[in-house]
Formats: sequence, C-alpha cells, structure tokens
Amino acid sequence: MTQTATTATPAQSATPAATPAGALPRLPQRLHHYAFTVKDQEANRVFWEDVIGVPLTATWCERAYNGTVGREIDYCHTFYTLEDGGALAFFQFADEDAYEALKTLRPEMGQHFAMLVDEATYDAIQQRIVAAGLPLRETDHGYCKSIYTQSPDGLKVEFTIDHPEVEAINAMRLKDCHTELKRWLAGDHRTNNNDRHGITT
Ligand SMILES: [Fe+2]
Repeated sequence: MTQTATTATPAQSATPAATPAGALPRLPQRLHHYAFTVKDQEANRVFWEDVIGVPLTATWCERAYNGTVGREIDYCHTFYTLEDGGALAFFQFADEDAYEALKTLRPEMGQHFAMLVDEATYDAIQQRIVAAGLPLRETDHGYCKSIYTQSPDGLKVEFTIDHPEVEAINAMRLKDCHTELKRWLAGDHRTNNNDRHGITT
C-alpha cells in the first residue's frame, strides 16, 4: 500500500552496506500484494476478472498526501486475490496529472511477475487469453513453462507450471546459487540452463 507522509522513511542509499546478517529467523510468508498503477480500473477489472478469472475482492477509496505530486490526492485501490491469499493491487488516481506523475514507465519492457498455476488452470487461462484476442507468448524455461500476456496498462504477467522434477531442480540450483552468481558477475556469462526453449522479450 502507499506509504503516507508520516510513515515514509527516506532512503539513505541505493546500495546496501555489506553487513550480512544471515537469513531471517522466519522468512516473509507469501506475497501480500503487488501494487501497480492503472489508468482505468474498469478496463483492468475486465482483464483480471472477466478474461483471466481472478476475482475482485476489495475496493478501497482513499485520500492521502502524495510526496511526488506534493498534495493530497484521491485514489481508488483495488485488490484481486489469489488462492493463497496474496493479492494483486491496483491504483487509479482521480486526477490525470497524478496518473502521469505516478504511472509505471514502460511496464511492458521486461518487468513482470509470475503466478504459479496447475496444468488445467494454465490451459484455461491460455484459452481465455486467445478468446479475448490478447497477446500471448509461451516459453519453456526448462525448470518451468510459462505463458505471458499483458494487461490494458501494459503490465506483463506470467502464468507458470513448475517442471515435474522441480524439487530436484531447486535442490541442484540451491547448491551453487552463490558460486554461479559470483561466476556470472565476474564476466563468465556461459549459460547453466540447457533446457530452455523460447525467446525473452
Ligand atoms: Fe518470469
């Protein structure tokens, strides 16, 4: 949710200090919500609720100070809830200048999030996307297989099925995640995924 002027804490630096404190005693439990700015809540509702089939579960009508535009603004904040209780959240601002100031730039350029689905849901969503005439791309990543589409605001969304041997794959990757990160950052850009098929856009 949007932080208000009274709770916002200015960032000290974009780069964290190298003071590793280890993993948290308890990890964050799940995605609570992912928030995204939209121009038209109704067009967004049609996409999520009518086309994809994820239901609208809350609409908060709010007024709060926003530091970017420097005044109180009216906005509508909607939530669409996934099976585990996590939600997709969307803001529409009452004033056009607030939308222009706060909209996500080039959301279609790579930034995206993925939702885990089962095979039947994957097929159903694929059929819904095709029936709605929306863009559709499928990529087999090896460790998972995904379809991608875009919301009316250009938000790229991915629905993915894990490989049947996902636990073994995850265990293999967990063993070398730090060494592989160091290797790549040091300039050795050889791939370690030989099972990937498809393009990245
Ligand atoms: Fe992805």
